[in-house]
Amino acid sequence: MPDITRKKIVVITGAGVSAESGLATFRDSGGVWEKYDITEVASIEGWRKDPENILEFYNARRKQAAEAKPNPAHKALADLEDFFDVQIITQNVDDLHERGGSSNVLHLHGELRKARSSKNEDLVTDIGADPIKMGDVAEDGAQLRPDVVWFGEMVPMIEPATVLVSEADILVVIGTSLVVYPAAGLVDYAPPHIPRYIVDPAEPELMNLDGWNHIKERAGSGTPKLKDLIIKEHR
Ligand code: APR
Repeated sequence: MPDITRKKIVVITGAGVSAESGLATFRDSGGVWEKYDITEVASIEGWRKDPENILEFYNARRKQAAEAKPNPAHKALADLEDFFDVQIITQNVDDLHERGGSSNVLHLHGELRKARSSKNEDLVTDIGADPIKMGDVAEDGAQLRPDVVWFGEMVPMIEPATVLVSEADILVVIGTSLVVYPAAGLVDYAPPHIPRYIVDPAEPELMNLDGWNHIKERAGSGTPKLKDLIIKEHR
């Protein structure tokens, strides 16, 4: 049941919230897209061309994510649930928000711990940290693939995410460059005059920060400060 008595905090996160857990971001120097070609490892064309290469890319990321630990940013967001209805919308495919204690996590770009039929996106299975190999098939006999959203594919969860943002009493953005649509467009759906906070050591280049409270720090130190600030100002 939605909690209608508490203020709703909607938190949009990206790779930056998991950086201090040891998971690389995508566009910072040394990021994932410096090492890999997006079209080869994260696009539907890449899957058609060389599915084994993609399976290996995600098997390595799934193993690394399973070995990573939630950091103080994930924990601080979970702690906010003591006073608020906290809804996380993440672009991340790791499960650190869940393991950090958050109860409501919407994965816009899918989840590493899930696999699905390459023919029927509704045939999803939880594989935890296990690898997917060529020849591993779903119940419909089709090759299993990571249940993540690749470039060139639809983002099925964007609708519910848009509804969540449009109902926010407080909006928070943590660790995302906000350059990938439709996720980046979510901030535009927030009610016009609600408090807005962003935690990021940099200024996301495409974002107009007017009216935003910018905690210009890494998530691990900035998010606990944000938690205290929001409790003080809005509880
Ligand atoms: N704490 C907080 N923010 C950080 C930290 C940190 N320790 N380190 C980096 N950042 C910030 C960067 O300044 C940047 O704004 O996190 C953001 C990372 O941006 P990206 O690497 O572009 O990651 P993200 O925004 O999550 O990418 C979105 O692009 O490639 C696709 O599917 C992929 O979900 C991903 C999407």
